Amino acid sequence: MEVANRLVAETRDQVDQAEAPPRRARPWQRYLEADLGLREYWYPAAHSGELAEGGTHKVKMLGEEVLLVRKNGKLYAVEDRCAHRGTRFSERPLVLSEDTITCWYHTWTFDLEDGDLRCILNEPGTALAGRTGVRAYPITEAKGLIFVYVGDAEPPPLEADVPASFLADDIVMHYAEPNVIRANWRLALENSFDPGHHFIHNWSQYVIESGFPMTFGYVAKPGEEAGEVKYVVDTTGPKGFSRCTRTTELIFSAVIPGKDGRPDTTYTAPAAVGRSHQELVDAFMAMPPIDVGIWLPSCNETVNFPSDMITYDWLVPIDENTTRSFMIGGRVCATEQEAADWRGEVGRVEWREPAVEKFLVDDNAARESMQTFYETENGWDRERLYRPDLEITMFRKFFSEHARAIQTPDKLVAPRSRRNPTRGRTR
Ligand SMILES: [Fe+2]
Repeated sequence: MEVANRLVAETRDQVDQAEAPPRRARPWQRYLEADLGLREYWYPAAHSGELAEGGTHKVKMLGEEVLLVRKNGKLYAVEDRCAHRGTRFSERPLVLSEDTITCWYHTWTFDLEDGDLRCILNEPGTALAGRTGVRAYPITEAKGLIFVYVGDAEPPPLEADVPASFLADDIVMHYAEPNVIRANWRLALENSFDPGHHFIHNWSQYVIESGFPMTFGYVAKPGEEAGEVKYVVDTTGPKGFSRCTRTTELIFSAVIPGKDGRPDTTYTAPAAVGRSHQELVDAFMAMPPIDVGIWLPSCNETVNFPSDMITYDWLVPIDENTTRSFMIGGRVCATEQEAADWRGEVGRVEWREPAVEKFLVDDNAARESMQTFYETENGWDRERLYRPDLEITMFRKFFSEHARAIQTPDKLVAPRSRRNPTRGRTR
């Protein structure tokens, strides 16, 4: 509550003003600089199934091109760019020994574990061995996802950057195909948390089919914004926060004033037509409380949506303008059979169809709708915020204070760090 009150106080003057304050004056300046994401964090890079034994998989994350390798059960991640003249290993990956990658162009051969040049096939005994190399990344695997650490420091345990519920033993995951969203990661992540964004879901197929009592937005009552939000900063898990949608103002219809003596128009959300306000509130309160959380560096976690499931939407920057979304449905399973069903057909019918194909698809369209404004029309300066955005400004300030580091364009071309990467380990 203390953190939330302070963040409200420090960001309140950024909303509800006639003119947007100049960008340099924003309390979330560091957030504005994070076009490429936050550095020194673990991020999901791929589904485990995308990297078969003996195979490779290329991925771009935070602007960095990375080649993932699985060989003899061990995982490796190296820069996908030969130190010689920049050839991409992934164009013809050659893993010719148990722990090396060889460039298919001029035979330079690198250690997959630390990135050092091991040898050059057409220059035996080269003096360059061990004196140059490519970046190697810490890599690990948990619950069907491969995680890569993007940074130069010694990585913390994975637990520090992943929601605790995701790693809990009794929760089983159903995976949707990752999506590529044509929007900056911050626009994607803010959408998940944005209390005003639920208006779009009145037209979501899941809402229409299920009769879900969808509001115009889960907006905190005036003056109660801090009370809605629970900040987590001092545990071994990720920093972040969550808000409960329960205590918000539930608006299902509103009046558009007529002008020049013409009558007002009352507009009612499609999902609310034919039901009284009290019926809708009762239906909403009868559901398990939905908690929306955001965890550093960029994971959205919605607890009890749909029904008893947890929906994760992990938004990993690919570059400044595109984001990879890993959508995952978690459910507690008591038996092996339940778990197997959840990974398969049950998870598809009960989670993937309603949550991804009939709900999150609308979030992706909304996220992409703002990209042009922020990419080419000076949106970060021009945006004109309103009271429900207070929770977004609190979030931006929180990120600015707690992000370990910001990914910057110079990191993409900087010489490799000399940190000895940790070995791949499997959970
Ligand atoms: Fe949404």
